[in-house]
Amino acid sequence: AKDMGADLEKILVTEDQISARLAEVAAEIDADYAGRDLLLVGVLKGAVMVMADLARALHHPCSMDWMAVSSYGAGTTSSGVVRILKDLETDIKDRNVLIVEDVIDSGLTLSWLVGNLRSRGPASVEICTMVRKPLALDVDLRVRYVGFDLPNEFIVGYGLDYAEKYRNLPFIGTLAQHVYQR
Ligand code: PRP
Ligand code: MN
Ligand code: MG
Repeated sequence: AKDMGADLEKILVTEDQISARLAEVAAEIDADYAGRDLLLVGVLKGAVMVMADLARALHHPCSMDWMAVSSYGAGTTSSGVVRILKDLETDIKDRNVLIVEDVIDSGLTLSWLVGNLRSRGPASVEICTMVRKPLALDVDLRVRYVGFDLPNEFIVGYGLDYAEKYRNLPFIGTLAQHVYQR
């Protein structure tokens, strides 16, 4: 696995599994948005990989825009306070917005983001995520498209980072404990 193999424990989702699942999700999106406009909103930086691959798997024409939001700190506890670091360049009033994420963990980022985008008067706001973790099921968050429901493990790859590394792995895997233990 490139030169990062020693840092990995095991592969949870292979490159082939990702592309096969993305093709299924893209077909659902094509059907659901038939005859309607579609704006994909990627959440930087984690969503870059899924955004690029999902957009190419779609047959439906779409536009793309990006947001960057602050995470709520490096710890495991979250205040739910989110700050916009980079806003959309698109006016989403009356648009069909599909938020694209790499992972939903606590669900706090997306709960906040959905509320924020809804306040701008879009025709619809839906969510597509490559990975959903179990904690997200406890939050009142309707996620229309889920690539994979994975257990609560420390995962990296396909956009997901640990200290800004491992995003460029083409698969999703668990990080070996020695990497994040001090
Ligand atoms: C990660 C991930 C999601 C968010 C999910 O982003 O990409 O955006 O956290 O966490 P939550 O469901 O607990 O809110 P991060 O803030 O690490 O920024 P990044 O995308 O640049 O890695
Ligand atoms: Mn992110
Ligand atoms: Mg991150």
